[in-house]
Amino acid sequence: MTAEKKTNGVIYYSEPESKDFEEIYLKLRKAEGRVYDDDLVLHLPDVPPCHRYYNEWLVRKRSMKMLIRYILRNEMIKTVLEVGCGNGWLSANLLRSTDRKITGLDVNISELEQAARVFGNRVNLAFAYGDIFMLNEKYDMIILPSVISYFEDLRALISKLLGNLNAGGEIHIIDNPFFDNKPAAKQRSLKYFKEMGFEEMAGQYFHHSLKDLSEFNSNVIYDPTTFIHKANRAFDKSTPPFYWIVVRN
Ligand SMILES: C[S@@+](CC[C@H](N)C(=O)[O-])C[C@H]1O[C@@H](n2cnc3c(N)ncnc32)[C@H](O)[C@@H]1O
Repeated sequence: MTAEKKTNGVIYYSEPESKDFEEIYLKLRKAEGRVYDDDLVLHLPDVPPCHRYYNEWLVRKRSMKMLIRYILRNEMIKTVLEVGCGNGWLSANLLRSTDRKITGLDVNISELEQAARVFGNRVNLAFAYGDIFMLNEKYDMIILPSVISYFEDLRALISKLLGNLNAGGEIHIIDNPFFDNKPAAKQRSLKYFKEMGFEEMAGQYFHHSLKDLSEFNSNVIYDPTTFIHKANRAFDKSTPPFYWIVVRN
């Protein structure tokens, strides 16, 4: 994939295919109150205590800090790709705190343009549209934050991304739910999407289990089910409830 053009600050690695996903995804996100104005995006992960998703953002801020510490401890990480960067808040914070070269990739043009508008014109930060399965570029670190549920085949995604790592590179899966009982989780999601009036979203949202990663060289860096993290979470709502997993070649 070679960059062909840049429009409204967004690099295009490939021609946009269909807006079907973006349209339904953004309608649902609007209905959920998860589409933010530029000023809020600029300040993420900090939101006012009265914000509807204040507790979620406490978690995101904590996991972001964990990720930043990890990057700063690893000199070999010079380039980072965020898959599914949305409005770009995490990529922008990684740039600010680590000074590595960061690329945020998504298929959601509206939020990519917002990311470029809010955080653009910074050296070493790029926002790009592209089909991840066509990506040729290589990175030292690829992060998958809160995004794997939009990929039907997690194994295919990880296999593909392993080929996009430089020698010694790593894939980090953070802030994503994993489900032991996938059929039950699928039913819960369907019920939720129906109640929200966006039943079609059920065809765009997928459930994965830790077993889906069993064929890979993966390690759990943070396990939310340990006694200590469960106990912490009982009184500190910023304690992440999600696994943090690293996959290497
Ligand atoms: C819940 S948001 C997560 C945004 C950001 N990574 C974060 O952690 O807050 C999921 C993002 O994944 C994007 N996405 C969904 N399918 C994708 C795909 N095939 N390739 C790239 N991004 C995708 C969506 O457009 C959306 O911006």
